[in-house]
Amino acid sequence: MTERRRRLRLHPVSLPEAVVPWAALELEMKACVRCHLASLRHQVVVYRGAPRPWVLFIGEAPGKEEDASGLPFVGRAGRILDRAVAASGLRPRDWGVTNVIMCRPPQNRFDRRAAAACRPWLEAKFGTLDPRVLVTLGTHALEAFAPEELPISRAAGHAATIWGRTLFPMLHPASTLHSKRYGERWRDDWARFAVLLPSLRPDPFAEGSKPRICSASPAGGLAPPGDGPGRALPLRS
Ligand code: URA
Repeated sequence: MTERRRRLRLHPVSLPEAVVPWAALELEMKACVRCHLASLRHQVVVYRGAPRPWVLFIGEAPGKEEDASGLPFVGRAGRILDRAVAASGLRPRDWGVTNVIMCRPPQNRFDRRAAAACRPWLEAKFGTLDPRVLVTLGTHALEAFAPEELPISRAAGHAATIWGRTLFPMLHPASTLHSKRYGERWRDDWARFAVLLPSLRPDPFAEGSKPRICSASPAGGLAPPGDGPGRALPLRS
C-alpha cells in the first residue's frame, strides 16, 4: 500500500505556550458561555478517553445522546467508531475523542459561529492532550484543521503531516449509516489506518516521553504527556 503523505499548509492556530493542566481546563470548558449554544445545551461535551492519548479523534458536534451524557460519541455513530477503534488494535489507553464544537447545535446542524467560538478550547485541548496522531471525522472536522484538503472524499484515508504530527482524515462514522458506499470507504480507510498505526505508536522508553507536568488526576482528570522525539509542540503559524 503506498502512502500519500504531504506537508499541509497550516490552518491558523494559536496553541498555548504554557500547557494548562487538564482538570483546570475542563472546569473552564464546562462553564463556557462563549456562544449562543450555551443557553440551549444540557451539558458541555468535552472529551472521552485516555488521560494521555497518542491518537485523538475529532468529530463535529455533540448530538442528543452526547448532550444528555456529557460525553462525545456515545450514540450510534459512537458505537461505529468504538468498534472500528477496537478492531484497529488501539487500546483504551491509546486514544481519546472530542469534537470541534462542544455544545449540541439545534437540529444537529454544524454551526460555524459556534465552531469559531469553540476554537480556543479546541486548541487548548490539543495543546494539553498533545496527541501524536489526529484523526478528523467528517468534513467539518477536517475543515477545522486543513480546509484546503477538502473535499473529504479525496482526503479520507490518506495521511498527511500537520504541525509535525500525523493527520489522518476519515469520513464521519454516521455517514456509513446512510450509504453502503460510505460504509465500504470507511472500512477501507480503517484498514489503511491500521496498517499505518504500528509505525506511529510512540516508544514508551524514548527520551522525553515523560510527562511535562505531572498533575494528579482526581476524578479522571488528565495530565499532559511529554514531547517525544520529533514531537516539537506546534508553533503559532
Ligand atoms: N457526531 C459527532 O460529530 N460528535 C459526537 O459526539 C456525536 C456524533
